Amino acid sequence: MSSSVSICVVGSGYVGLVAAVCFAEIGHRVTCVDNDESKIKMLRKGGVPIFERHLPELLERHRGQGVVFSSDLHGAVEQSETIFIAVGTPQGDSGAADLSYVEGVVSEIARSIRSYTVIVEKSTVPVYTNDWIRRVLCRFGVDPANFDVVSNPEFLREGSAIGDFLHPDRIVVGTSSPRAADVLRRIYEPLTGGSYYAQPDALAGQHTAQHPAPLLVTSPQSAELIKHASNAFLALKISFINAVATLAETVDADIEEIAAGVGLDHRIGREFLRAGLGYGGSCFPKDVAAFHWVAQQQGVHFRLLEEIRGINESQKEHFFNKVVSALWTLRGKRLAALGLAFKGGTDDVRESPAIDTIRRLLQAGALVTAFDPAATENAKKLLPASENMKYAADLYEAARGADAVLILTDWKEFGAIDLERLRAQMRFPIVIDGRNLYPADQMEGLGFSYVSMGRPAVYPVHEKQPVR
Ligand code: UDX
Ligand code: UDX
Repeated sequence: MSSSVSICVVGSGYVGLVAAVCFAEIGHRVTCVDNDESKIKMLRKGGVPIFERHLPELLERHRGQGVVFSSDLHGAVEQSETIFIAVGTPQGDSGAADLSYVEGVVSEIARSIRSYTVIVEKSTVPVYTNDWIRRVLCRFGVDPANFDVVSNPEFLREGSAIGDFLHPDRIVVGTSSPRAADVLRRIYEPLTGGSYYAQPDALAGQHTAQHPAPLLVTSPQSAELIKHASNAFLALKISFINAVATLAETVDADIEEIAAGVGLDHRIGREFLRAGLGYGGSCFPKDVAAFHWVAQQQGVHFRLLEEIRGINESQKEHFFNKVVSALWTLRGKRLAALGLAFKGGTDDVRESPAIDTIRRLLQAGALVTAFDPAATENAKKLLPASENMKYAADLYEAARGADAVLILTDWKEFGAIDLERLRAQMRFPIVIDGRNLYPADQMEGLGFSYVSMGRPAVYPVHEKQPVR
């Protein structure tokens, strides 16, 4: 039987906010704390600070009831059985994750613990962070009998984070304490026992009451490595298919056909084999670097991780070269950039390949007009509007008078463009697609020059293929 647990989630970002509303959704009492007062004010007033599917509905359902928002960490810790830490762990100069926010939060928690409390590390952290948290708590004088530390990594994709939380492939609980493991089992019981899926208003997904979510208890170090290894493996799949895509181009093969043929082998799987501009976001680039750093610290030369990163970097250059080979010179050329977010379905521009590509184009003297369904405001902080950098209200406006349209993010709406309307807006019908959203023959049939990733470029009959 499940019972309600009082939970404090520290951090109300992409991970913390999603975790907080989802814990409320499965019946717990949650206080979500953030040291950014303006964010807390906004959340209390009914605002939704990030673009994330299902988040507005769940906030609407639980705000002020199952989940309350506060900037008082001390008060929240005092009244919670379990504290989830979900503050940022950005990449430091050495490639290692910067854990200073985590340490800061832990030292504050130390001052507020009154009775047995489980501290759960949810942010992505290097191996032995669990141990460090324990040591910091002891240094601040907390009685070891009064707490346990658990590593419970998140596997939440932005854009589908709520679905990933409520229908997880697995829940990993890393702890050496049976007592703490039981608390975590109690928290996730609605998902692992299936009672959540039996509710009429449950979010539909891969699990049902008969086939609930699996939970795996491991050592803390294993849980920490599971997180890094999972993200590094997914990044590996992307870099692998991108390397094959580059090879495919040289022999006029089609990477979409190759990915389908390779992915149908169930040992490999079809997911994360989409060739394109490479991976970005707040996790993969940072986690591959942090995992490499962790290995190095232990004297292990995990060179494969360097290669994953290297291939990812070269993808952006490869795309840039495609733009040059389609347009010859870039100075003064008007380019429409479709997409700013690091992937479709999010407003997040952290480590976005789209932003990186636009920077290169601007440096080469191009005039860029960008459109993104959700990420424009965030992008403007990195690429302020100027004479050369403009933002459009929709994609057709971005394409008006353009020498070429570049597809940089795999938003669903960019795969469903009214292509005739698009072509009518453009100066020349040239589309350079970094996300392979269209079949080449469809584009050819509509008279576009169409250049994509890992597939033969098509040009209208009157245009000769440019010299590489
Ligand atoms: C998370 C994880 O922390 C990271 O390790 C993981 O790999 C990706 O997801 P994310 O939720 O994306 O990060 O970060 P962000 O959106 O920056 O949110 C962090 C929140 O913590 C912010 O709202 C920030 O104000 C808050 N914060 C930060 C605190 O409340 N206290 C602090 O000391 C530091
Ligand atoms: C990732 C993890 O997937 C998730 O489990 C969690 O650990 C947080 O980090 P996220 O960064 O939100 O999630 O997005 P994800 O869907 O994994 O995509 C990451 C990047 O890879 C994006 O830039 C995306 O465009 C790119 N990608 C993904 C590809 O280029 N090809 C693919 O086939 C899949």
